[in-house]
Amino acid sequence: AAQDYPTAVSLLLVCKEVRLWILPVLYTTVVLTSSNAIIRFFRGLMQDAGPNPTSPILAPLVRHLWMGPIGRSPTPGFPKAFEVNDGYWSSADLQLYSTSWPITMMHQILSSCTSLRSLAILNLGQNNWSHLEGVIPTTLESLWLGPIHGPLILKNFRHHPRLRTITSIDTYMRDDEVKDIVLSPHCRVFRRAYIRSPQAVEYAFQQLPCVAQSSTLEEMRIELHGIAGDDAWEARLKQLEEKYLPFCLDKRVKIVVRPEAQTQGIFRTIFRDWQLETLSSESMVNSYIVYFV
Ligand SMILES: *[C@@H]1O[C@H](CO)[C@@H](O)[C@H](O)[C@H]1NC(C)=O
Repeated sequence: AAQDYPTAVSLLLVCKEVRLWILPVLYTTVVLTSSNAIIRFFRGLMQDAGPNPTSPILAPLVRHLWMGPIGRSPTPGFPKAFEVNDGYWSSADLQLYSTSWPITMMHQILSSCTSLRSLAILNLGQNNWSHLEGVIPTTLESLWLGPIHGPLILKNFRHHPRLRTITSIDTYMRDDEVKDIVLSPHCRVFRRAYIRSPQAVEYAFQQLPCVAQSSTLEEMRIELHGIAGDDAWEARLKQLEEKYLPFCLDKRVKIVVRPEAQTQGIFRTIFRDWQLETLSSESMVNSYIVYFV
């Protein structure tokens, strides 16, 4: 039954025992790809306050949350549970700088998801991020943001999550932001993914020296998406690796070309990475991804 969304939904109506058994499966990993999906999810959370309104049942079940587009075509070989229709493969309205992002509801969702471990918000305008960083729950370990996310300043996270993995997509970051992340005692993997912006990529290379000062970071990754087979880009990358050779020699520094972005786009590639991370951190029974459309 867990593989079939309509059945799961009708089971919810059957009895309380079944409901309590199936809800954790439905709410562990949630993907919201449109403003409507976010709104509906928000309403679901708010309506379900449980028998005691001060101790909600649903929100604390959520451990992995994705908000934003996930690219266009389905990924073969991934669990396709709960595919009610194809609407979620495209993102109708969650575009960069779109005013349809329901920021206040996202604020409340994040405030109430007190067990959240991984959070991805893609395409959120840079002015909107500052409204959310203060409510990022203390349990969060993995954060995925971009493209062009706002300043990522660890000390603005009021609940002090111990972020172990940070993925920043196509964003210029200031030296002090990068340094604080690299030198944070909790951060293990800092990944910076780029689509094509040559200036931003060079900037990321320039910011590599602080890696040497960290004794806890395990991986500093610069990923280039959508450049495979592009001779000019490959030459440029070689130049950068030579120019910043002493820093690239640190074994923790990884410069990676992601060819799959060529065919499926960066959002799809990043979403797949997020799926993999999510699935590997959950048991089989909780490894379903539920898409709200
Ligand atoms: C989000 O950002 C847009 C501009 O990108 C702005 O118009 C809107 O007011 C912001 N929303 C909030 C809640 O700040």
